[in-house]
Amino acid sequence: MSELNNIALRILENGKGILAADESTGTMTKRLDAVKVPSTSENRLLFRETLFSSSSMMDYIGGVILYDETIKQKSSKKNSIPELISEMGSLPGIKVDTGAKVLANSPNEKITEGLDGLRERLKVYNKLGAKFTKWRGIYNISKEYPSKLSLQSNAHALARYSALVQECNMVPIVEPEVLMDGEHSAKECYEKTSEVIKKCFEELILHKIDLKGVILKPNMILAGNKSKNKISGEEVANLTLECLKNSVPQEVPGIAFLSGGQSEIEATENLNLINKLNNTSFIISYSFGRALQQSALKFWSQDINNVSGTQKVFNHRAKMNTLAAQGKWSKELEN
Ligand code: 13P
Repeated sequence: MSELNNIALRILENGKGILAADESTGTMTKRLDAVKVPSTSENRLLFRETLFSSSSMMDYIGGVILYDETIKQKSSKKNSIPELISEMGSLPGIKVDTGAKVLANSPNEKITEGLDGLRERLKVYNKLGAKFTKWRGIYNISKEYPSKLSLQSNAHALARYSALVQECNMVPIVEPEVLMDGEHSAKECYEKTSEVIKKCFEELILHKIDLKGVILKPNMILAGNKSKNKISGEEVANLTLECLKNSVPQEVPGIAFLSGGQSEIEATENLNLINKLNNTSFIISYSFGRALQQSALKFWSQDINNVSGTQKVFNHRAKMNTLAAQGKWSKELEN
């Protein structure tokens, strides 16, 4: 087994998933504003350290995606944040893209930036303890989008990123996110997401990526958030599995979904159904941001020094998602 394959499997073993705590300072400020906590670097660290020192790290969270600010911070016990995460039994990872900007000549679409100087930045992150990385490309759905230009250029960037990450002995999480925003049907989401993922793997293969050392982070197949035709959880699961079967090469060891704006319970319920019906060879788990942190953040905001109370809320959510990653979740367990 290659070292990269080993890392990917370790992150996702036994129903474990990924905590996406890599919100940029701008996004984290929006999250903290919403719960009326000042977005200082101390508060951002306090919330994150509360999660990273919870017992979930040993039991449910196989990897944590950090943001540049956090990977360089020290915990209250004065060890580095990657050290804390490793000591707790999980693996530290890092978001390495620098954000999505307007795609020239297609102003309604975005292209993710961050390739310039990436090889050097990766060396620094690897030294700081990162074992895996993340890069997110985003696509919106409408009749004409994603355009060929967006499909091609985002896939190309994801492939060049992956090659540099593997060169530095880390596992790339490849995240092509087809956004939930809009009135589109689930069928349109299915078709466009399949096209997006296929194009990504076409480029990854062209760039000679070791697919056994990659984790795919896709969206689930859902109707748009403004669509009048919502579909059932079973339909979400069936369409999502069909999409993965048709577009992801067999060598890829694991798939970890983003939550993308679903509620905590909705994301868990859909993940559970996908795993119950999973007839693929892929390990299928989670790499949630909002759907893992929302209720913990809300609880924490009432008293930012209540570490054990916040951890209890977080541990519950992580446990529910790990059960869902094994198809063992049920609604009754939420109480
Ligand atoms: P959400 O689960 O909140 O969509 O975040 C996942 C993520 O990492 C987006 O890049």
